[in-house]
Amino acid sequence: MKIWTGITLATILAATTVTSAFAQGSGADVYTSTKCAMCHGATGTGNAGMKVPPFKSPDAIKATDTALSAAIKNGAGTGTIKMPAYAAKLTDAQIKSVVAYIRTLQK
Ligand code: HEC
Repeated sequence: MKIWTGITLATILAATTVTSAFAQGSGADVYTSTKCAMCHGATGTGNAGMKVPPFKSPDAIKATDTALSAAIKNGAGTGTIKMPAYAAKLTDAQIKSVVAYIRTLQK
């Protein structure tokens, strides 16, 4: 009984690690292949000239996953350079994984 509990826990932990590593990889793929980096920088540092704040800005750190997803889906920004809407280009799963990837850039 004790042994089985140990194995089950180890299995769950291993599965969780694999899942999050995969999500991170595909989020990074979305980020580079959709050219998010063009405006947000390869590591999310933003672009002062284009008035794109870094993902590490207090506002973006405070923003909920839902708020970040909404910005990606519907577009954002009030300046000359606006964030395009990606609702038609990315699936919900891709948006979810790219938000998870942005969270890793905020660390
Ligand atoms: C043409 C330039 C451009 C591209 C390409 C772009 N963004 Fe943005 N993004 C912006 C601007 C401008 C804002 C609004 C910044 C502000 O005013 O707060 C923004 C805002 C955001 C926000 C809201 C948080 C914040 O920092 O304001 C997220 C999340 C985001 N972008 C993710 C993405 C992702 C993911 C992609 C690729 C799928 C992407 N962006 C592509 C320009 C861009």
